[in-house]
Amino acid sequence: MTGIVLGSGLGVLADQVEVSREVAFEDAGLAVSTVPGHSGKFVFGKLGSSEVVLMKGRVHLYEGHSAQVVTAGVRWMKEQGVESLILTNAAGTVNKAHLPGEWMMLSDHLNLTATTPLMGANFVDMSEVYDRAWRAEFEAAAKTLGMKLNEGVYAGLRGPQYETPAEVRMVRTLGADAVGMSTVLEAIQAKALGMRVAGFSCLTNWAAGMQETLNHEEVLETGKAAGGAMVQLLEKVL
Ligand code: HPA
Repeated sequence: MTGIVLGSGLGVLADQVEVSREVAFEDAGLAVSTVPGHSGKFVFGKLGSSEVVLMKGRVHLYEGHSAQVVTAGVRWMKEQGVESLILTNAAGTVNKAHLPGEWMMLSDHLNLTATTPLMGANFVDMSEVYDRAWRAEFEAAAKTLGMKLNEGVYAGLRGPQYETPAEVRMVRTLGADAVGMSTVLEAIQAKALGMRVAGFSCLTNWAAGMQETLNHEEVLETGKAAGGAMVQLLEKVL
């Protein structure tokens, strides 16, 4: 079974799923998000012919949760039999060639949250968090669909404030193509559990300093508009 974590405003993916059952976060023993655009439940069903579970509404570090709490949904999905995990998010683009409204597949990440869900656990190899073979499948599918799918490095920060222009220059210098406030801890947890991982950023805006101002409504709106292309891509690959 494939798990799909839905990011800000990407709930539209859920409309394409033939639902068999739903489990509220509370009933799975999980914390509930307080952010607009993130309702908290797991949706089991079929996307095309594939069994999927959608995680609608993740919780974030910036809501005051620990790395353990932020990644509890990933561990819960693993217990339900999820072996492959697709993480989606809304992110700002820091790469001038990757435009707002487009998607970026994660080739790698920078965990700049200064925390980890693996505290007290063993060393885990992070040399290929985002599965290379699976990435190639998504790339080929995007090509067939005529969809522009960028690929790059996602920098995960704590938030909740958006970055300063200096911070955006910093992450670009560090090799980031996009910046956001989620995904990296979940990817680390999933990798540690031996799951196959893919990640996609919906590039909702230019990062700070690359355009005038930045607000959450813009992020949600662009996320909604770009959802259709990702639905097609997931249906094709899964
Ligand atoms: N920065 C951080 N997180 C984000 C952004 C951004 O510009 N856009 C959407 N999520």
